[in-house]
Amino acid sequence: MIEHDVLIIGGGLAGCRAAVEIARTNPALSIGVIAKTHPIRSHSVAAQGGIAATLNNVDAADSWEAHAFDTVKGSDYLADQDAVEILTREAPGVVIDLEHMGVLFSRLPDGRIAQRAFGGHTHRRTCYAADKTGHAILHELVSNLRRYGVTIYDEWYVMRLIVEEGQAKGLVMYRLVDGHIEVARAKAVMVATGGYGRAYNTTSNDFASTGDGLAMAAAAGIPLQDMEFVQFHPTGLYPAGVLISEAVRGEGAYLINSEGDRFMATYAPSKMELAPRDITSRAITKELRAGRGIHLDGSAGGPFVYLDLRHMGQDKIMSRVPFCWEEAHRLAGVDAVHEPIPIRPTVHYSMGGIPVNTDGQVRSGPDGLVDGLFSAGETACVSVHGANRLGSNSLLECVVYGRRTGAAIARYVSDRKLPEVNAQRYVIEAQQQVNTLIHQSGDYRIAEVRQAFQDCMTDHCGVFRTAETMQQGLEQLQQIQEQAQRIYLDDKQALWNTEITEALELRSLLTVGQIILESALQRRESRGAHCREDFPDRNDADFLQHTLAYYSPAGVDISYRPVVINRFEPQERKY
Ligand code: FUM
Repeated sequence: MIEHDVLIIGGGLAGCRAAVEIARTNPALSIGVIAKTHPIRSHSVAAQGGIAATLNNVDAADSWEAHAFDTVKGSDYLADQDAVEILTREAPGVVIDLEHMGVLFSRLPDGRIAQRAFGGHTHRRTCYAADKTGHAILHELVSNLRRYGVTIYDEWYVMRLIVEEGQAKGLVMYRLVDGHIEVARAKAVMVATGGYGRAYNTTSNDFASTGDGLAMAAAAGIPLQDMEFVQFHPTGLYPAGVLISEAVRGEGAYLINSEGDRFMATYAPSKMELAPRDITSRAITKELRAGRGIHLDGSAGGPFVYLDLRHMGQDKIMSRVPFCWEEAHRLAGVDAVHEPIPIRPTVHYSMGGIPVNTDGQVRSGPDGLVDGLFSAGETACVSVHGANRLGSNSLLECVVYGRRTGAAIARYVSDRKLPEVNAQRYVIEAQQQVNTLIHQSGDYRIAEVRQAFQDCMTDHCGVFRTAETMQQGLEQLQQIQEQAQRIYLDDKQALWNTEITEALELRSLLTVGQIILESALQRRESRGAHCREDFPDRNDADFLQHTLAYYSPAGVDISYRPVVINRFEPQERKY
């Protein structure tokens, strides 16, 4: 059995930042980071536009209070305001700390960190490294894991959490290269596995974003919070769905429909292209529905609108957003210096997740906590984003709450011993599960079931929803779940059997999809990214609450817990 003081599942920004903090707090602690890809390839590496912090380098009037208000308003008042206060107060400190670690931020002529505009923020406060900010930060943090002697188990897939009598004791892990199964135990376990973008057929997310941590928490009886809030990023490159950063609009790009209009004037006149993402994605979807989208031959009525950078000029495009230029060129054959980029909304981010307190400790329900279990980053819901996240607040959340969770874990394990775990029982159970997958004769290939599932989520729980579409989605999902029981694998070997990983990931996706649909169906109002055409208004009287969804194979039970409102009273949200 593998043993560490702390096990961290996931090698992205939140997990790495927590590992660094644990090691800084107590260098004697042994830390294992387990990741299904190498940490350098975690989805955090794809983050582009930046990290928000009120450094006041370009805007002296900015303040953490303004950042907090923008975040709460952006969240449609569902964010917990105590958690937002921590996020925004601690932001400048964590960014300077990253700089001291060696992160190569873009600079102003005087050498200070440059800051740009971003959607829903009232001041220029987003720090950046061109349009490769996640890459710049993650590389530094992973180097620090090496420096602090953290053990990295890369290309291991975590099959389940071991939670017994309300205490997290360890996990079961599967080595991708040869199918070897191990049990690992620890005094504390942290889940930091990112989001579930692959539950949809168009996403900016990595192929590895399959909601594994969310599904394993749900399987362990832990509720998932606010899962109905799925963020659609307005500018996914058509047709691939990859991200064209909001930084492009922050630097001045326009959104244009088939009539050549900057249509955001209709939807958010004071913010235009820098309205929050929920509003901008709805605006684009409405333009497409109204026949003002564009086809590849330039005619009207098509599936995308244009993101127009041409007036920005080659020097600005190539210095501020060179990666976006490259993506459009490589994947759509568009030279953005001379041609507009075809874009449409793409699934980008999960506002919901594993409910945690502001020390990253996982909630077992409205009141209790799970002993020894922690979470941070996109997997977690603390909740600083509420119903809609502002761009450049997610890298910030990973770093602020990764650091806080690391510090809390170091304190938590200081006077605890390793728990007793019956490793053999868990290895036998996991081995049986893998053997069954390899040897069962079924009727469906994994890819066809996954595609049907992704189409189902896209068609029935997208930018706009109704009870009818979601009910249909749940019925279809039930059939897809039955098909998933009858998949077959072509590869019967243990060595590099990628079909086994895909089958396990499919199981995660289906669990998460069911929870999203059930949570969305029960929230009979429109708030942030959750837009019900049958309930178009926000309803604070009944739904100014966090959803808690408890999963079991028999179904999903929904209950609610209060939102922390201690600074900003909810108002009508207008831009
Ligand atoms: O558009 C972007 O660069 C994405 C940033 C974010 O999601 O925070």
